[in-house]
Amino acid sequence: MKIENINRQFLDGVMAGDYPDVYYHFGVSSNDPVLKNFRDVRAVVLAGSGERIKEFAKIWSKKRNNRKIYTLPKEERFVFCYCDGVIFASHGMGMPSASICVQELMRMVYFLKGGDPDELDQVFWVRVGTSGGVGLEGGTVVVTTEGLMADLKPYRLLIGEREQYFDGRFPADVAEAIVEACRDSGLEVVMGKTVAGNEFFIEQMRLDGAIRLAEEDWKYGWLNWIHEHGVRNIEMEGAMLAGFMNHWGFPRFAMICCTLLNRLHGDQVTASGQELHRYSENAGKALFFYLETIMPKLEAKAPARKKPAVKKTPTGRGEDGGDAEPTDQEPADGGKAE
Ligand code: URA
Repeated sequence: MKIENINRQFLDGVMAGDYPDVYYHFGVSSNDPVLKNFRDVRAVVLAGSGERIKEFAKIWSKKRNNRKIYTLPKEERFVFCYCDGVIFASHGMGMPSASICVQELMRMVYFLKGGDPDELDQVFWVRVGTSGGVGLEGGTVVVTTEGLMADLKPYRLLIGEREQYFDGRFPADVAEAIVEACRDSGLEVVMGKTVAGNEFFIEQMRLDGAIRLAEEDWKYGWLNWIHEHGVRNIEMEGAMLAGFMNHWGFPRFAMICCTLLNRLHGDQVTASGQELHRYSENAGKALFFYLETIMPKLEAKAPARKKPAVKKTPTGRGEDGGDAEPTDQEPADGGKAE
């Protein structure tokens, strides 16, 4: 972690218990007892839609012996779920919305880890989303190597009259490990740079918006230019996510996005509902393939308890009339999913 970039002026007082931190958009504060259930967090999974987040949490719970899913009551802005070491949270659409979610979660994770830099280093962050492919057909999974703005410069914000640039690179070892985790999955997975548009139409050079500020030659000139520079997809959050993660120095974070269309062939998303579902499932599958490689292995189920040996009678029944084979199994551990 880059300790010098963590807002200690504010967070030290929270850690000392002088005042609580209010994660306003999640409707919870650091002094809420529910937070103690999230202390083992090892991964933070982000996605645009709240429904998607609930689906992810259910899938994870099922994979983890039906471990309990915790939720927070306020879902007006972002949906939050926690299950077995993973926070799942929706961030809405675009960098202004997603940056609020990421900053509040960074503070929450800092609190959950007691401000311990070694513990914070262990937390993996990932956004799983959808995107427009640049030279890639719908359904391809892109693991991002660098997030850039439409001018291929990194994410930047205005602090008054000053521009603040952020480093948009994603850790290469994590991106490679995600591709490796998907190797025999049958998914089409590529690595590439990703442009984050501040807007779906104008900044992604679409000609089907209500406002049209470009023509075909400019659009294709731009798409070809970003493609030549290694960009393989366009979405709306990645440059900010990488910028904020790098600012605090989280060593492990990633972005996994499926493509919904090939922008070299059009602007409108015309895939059927079924196709869109399959496309977005691809990104989720890639996430879980990787997550299972980094999360602690589930404890092996207790071995089947043997019944005391029962001598078989010539009829094949035990002498007490019951089945001779032991059938007892320990019940699965963990609470039920909500
Ligand atoms: N999301 C985007 O931001 N752009 C697309 O083209 C598709 C999904």
